[in-house]
Amino acid sequence: MADPVRVAVLISGRGSNMLALSEHKRRDPERTYRIELVASNVPEARGLVLAKRLGLRTWAKSHEGMKRAEFDALLDAALEEHGIEIVALAGYMRLLSPGFVDKWEGRILNIHPSLLPLHKGLDTHRRALLAGDEFAGCSVHVVTADLDSGPVVAQARVKILPRDDPESLAQRVLEEEHRLYPLALEEYCRAVRELES
Ligand code: GAR
Repeated sequence: MADPVRVAVLISGRGSNMLALSEHKRRDPERTYRIELVASNVPEARGLVLAKRLGLRTWAKSHEGMKRAEFDALLDAALEEHGIEIVALAGYMRLLSPGFVDKWEGRILNIHPSLLPLHKGLDTHRRALLAGDEFAGCSVHVVTADLDSGPVVAQARVKILPRDDPESLAQRVLEEEHRLYPLALEEYCRAVRELES
């Protein structure tokens, strides 16, 4: 069996998707990825505490007062130091610099809480409700230079109910995120190894 792909998960907050990615890895012994590093631009992010509890390696540095490219160069150095092959953004709420995205082309995934190409950016659930959409959902996509615009590799839909508000919708979509992201990462990493062989 091929070695698991070495993954870094990038977070800025709560870290529930990072947890789901990590739990999935624990449940599946024939896993195609292994989380080598959890990195954050927010040193006080709750997800970092969870990651440490899980025994995962962490890296954290505040981006405040730094130019985007300068911060991303430090992040890149940390990824290289840990031999990272794939970067999984999981609630990483900071735009990556073009140089970073260019270097990691095809090797960064993101989970976004909408049915892309609908509702790129922030406040997705409120916008889905305001638009009168029948479905909300989440998308896993490859990160490119344009925000939330890279190729979608997996999506899950959630029916919008008449009584929904942004919070209730976010909660149901998040459950789908936790199911979808590990499966999508698993498949992506399988494809990465197959392309190499
Ligand atoms: C998730 O809903 C994720 O899809 C979203 O932030 C939340 C992070 O939650 N990401 C974005 O909006 C990226 N544009 P988590 O920290 O509990 O995983």
